[in-house]
Amino acid sequence: MSVRTIATQPIDGQRPGTSGLRKKVVEFCRPHYLENFVQAIFNTLGDCAGQTLVLGGDGRYFNRPAIQIIVRMAAAHGFERVLVGQGGILSTPALSCVVRKRGALGGIILSASHNPGGPDGDFGIKYNAANGGPAPEKITDAIYAQTRSIGQYFTIDAPDIDLDTLGAASVGALRVEVIDPVADYAELMGELFDFGAIRALFAGGFTMCFDGMCAVGGPYAHAILEGALGAPRGTVINGVPLEDFGGHHPDPNPVNAAELIALMDGPSAPDFGAASDGDADRNMIVGRGIAVTPSDSLAIIAANATVAPGYAGGIKGVARSMPTSGAADRVAAALGVPCYETPTGWKFFGNLMDAGLVTLCGEESYGTGSDHVREKDGLWAVLFWLNLLAASGKPVGQIVRGHWARFGRNYYSRHDYEAVESNAAAQLMADLRAQLPSLAGRTMDGHTIALADDFAYTDPVDHSVSLGQGVRIIMDDGSRIVLRLSGTGTEGATIRLYLEKYEADPARHDFDTQTALAGLAALAERIAGIAARTGRGGPSVIT
Ligand code: G6P
Ligand code: ZN
Repeated sequence: MSVRTIATQPIDGQRPGTSGLRKKVVEFCRPHYLENFVQAIFNTLGDCAGQTLVLGGDGRYFNRPAIQIIVRMAAAHGFERVLVGQGGILSTPALSCVVRKRGALGGIILSASHNPGGPDGDFGIKYNAANGGPAPEKITDAIYAQTRSIGQYFTIDAPDIDLDTLGAASVGALRVEVIDPVADYAELMGELFDFGAIRALFAGGFTMCFDGMCAVGGPYAHAILEGALGAPRGTVINGVPLEDFGGHHPDPNPVNAAELIALMDGPSAPDFGAASDGDADRNMIVGRGIAVTPSDSLAIIAANATVAPGYAGGIKGVARSMPTSGAADRVAAALGVPCYETPTGWKFFGNLMDAGLVTLCGEESYGTGSDHVREKDGLWAVLFWLNLLAASGKPVGQIVRGHWARFGRNYYSRHDYEAVESNAAAQLMADLRAQLPSLAGRTMDGHTIALADDFAYTDPVDHSVSLGQGVRIIMDDGSRIVLRLSGTGTEGATIRLYLEKYEADPARHDFDTQTALAGLAALAERIAGIAARTGRGGPSVIT
């Protein structure tokens, strides 16, 4: 089949953000929009003869047509093989797993993660490299440069492939294999966790509610929790992926998963609750009457890693993003392993894992994972907790309180101001940065500021430097105020304010989080003036 050359021109705004290119669906449906970006990826990769590409998405609106477009372009670019998840589906961690297991050159994930879906929602595309992880900045920068100079893209004329039937087909000279999206991933989970102990837990009457939020996590949870682990049918709710996520906002936090939180707070709460996001890389862990903060979850997993067979030999180290609380740092210190602090974005963990410096990674944004793949992994975290619950015989609340009693509690909250006018947000950050030199050493509202800076990161492996990763105002007692602009929003700007206060005394571990952090929130407002400058009465989301 002959390759067709289509003339095109650069389209503005195709710079990948924290996690790939994310835009409104209408934008992606503009002529050449997707094609330009895909060709920019392929141009960056160069010759792909003999190579395998893995392709799949979270099933949102435009997933299927996008897959057909990319398959034809992959054929034109000369790939040997494309592996596509059945139904066009692959969760982000499952894609990472397949890329690694099948020795692929890389993978393309179609997802806007937790952003709403449907014709009026968002779409996204992200390239993952041969290690299974998000492409590092030097590659995403090169892709962006390609989008700035593109003049043509390549495709072939071929009918759509049947995405729903397992098996192989030819598209021109390209071999397309439609694979079971769950199998490779489920096998890996079975190697890491004590499925026998978890099966026995469910067989003993342990109850759980997993909210798939009508996103891609559902099929994985059905197959693994209700299938391999024998949890009763009905354990997984909202388990069928829908193109608009059933109108849900598939971001597992206590605000969006309000139904699950209400269940876990109510009289008929199961023993354990969990949820994952649009592409199933995020997770939320909930016990009866207690939602575990992602920062605590990372610390607790690190402290108990050896209960799971895959980590029985101990962990090499831990990494967390800068805004994530320091709870994991205390565990790492106790274990005598290093703890790395990186900028926001899972891609920054890739080098650390590839170099064998860390085993576990986590972010405040409901992401937790390990070096089993190179993405955060929602179901992995849920399975770790199930393994821990089975091994300890304790409920979630007791595990969390026991952890605080041993290591102290890092009270933690994130306040988001969403869809703020972009210039106002940029000006706020610029003015804040200008204030930094004068803040260190000052005492304000009873807090003495020990350090005020704009976080910069030097990757210990490739020594690349990332500047301007967020403003940190750190008090002399370790409390922190962090401010940065989100890199994943699609409307205006989102200002994120992160608040953290450490409390060692177990007698002071039961305060309401917002009450415990109110003083820091007031100080943040005094310094940054978010409400005053944005005209907002308060944050739009508090997690
Ligand atoms: C995605 C990334 C994470 C990141 C999160 C929040 O989920 O994979 O690494 O922490 O977005 O990013 P943002 O820039 O919106 O705070
Ligand atoms: Zn996600």
